[in-house]
Amino acid sequence: MRIVLLGPPGSGKGTQAALLRDRLGLAHISTGLLLREAVDQRTELGLKAKRYMDAGDLVPDDLMLGLIEERLGQPDVSNGFILDGYPRNLAQAEALDQVLERIGQPVDLAISVTVNEGEIVDRLSKRATEEGRSDDTEDVIRNRLRVYAEQTAPVAGHYAERGQLREVDGMGSVEEVHQRMLETIANA
Ligand code: AP5
Ligand code: MG
Repeated sequence: MRIVLLGPPGSGKGTQAALLRDRLGLAHISTGLLLREAVDQRTELGLKAKRYMDAGDLVPDDLMLGLIEERLGQPDVSNGFILDGYPRNLAQAEALDQVLERIGQPVDLAISVTVNEGEIVDRLSKRATEEGRSDDTEDVIRNRLRVYAEQTAPVAGHYAERGQLREVDGMGSVEEVHQRMLETIANA
């Protein structure tokens, strides 16, 4: 199974993707995590990406395409995968289609996780005090939400056009949302 997870910052994409990885044996591919590793290791990509991430803006598409192509070239991808945080705009969605077609692993399903804005702010403020992720400050959260609404929300339409989009209610406990995810995948 090859799944794209869509949803605003704080909707629980990373949390749910990790549970699905463990449960279904899929590769969890988080572009946010890959970028944060690149920043920590001070690679060329990390040095270029940092200022965009710190502002809550999207890292330019050409940098992202190199990163995702490299990750999708790894052997675990043939067992299926969950993409968490990619694609983030329509150009990325189209580039992804081409890469996946080339490697013969097209997307089966896109799941859009929905949560209300109050819950997003609560979750990310809580994470800010617990983990100190550098983009979990009030101004940057606001910009990440704006970028999501303007650039990423339209990506759902890309998958809806092909009948591949499902919505999952992301409110409630982590376990409740996980059960909804499993049901959605089983019925896809
Ligand atoms: P990215 O790392 O993808 O961040 P994001 O989309 O802003 O989302 P988050 O990781 O904050 O939220 P999430 O939905 O994963 O929720 P989580 O499970 O963590 O991207 C970061 C930056 O990298 C971007 O701003 C951009 O600069 C760059 N970037 C990444 N991909 C890119 C791309 N494709 N193109 C260009 N740039 C890109 O949960 C959030 C918190 O809530 C956690 O503390 C969690 O424990 C808690 N939580 C989760 N579920 C629940 C629940 N059910 N109840 C209560 N708490 C919960
Ligand atoms: Mg995440």
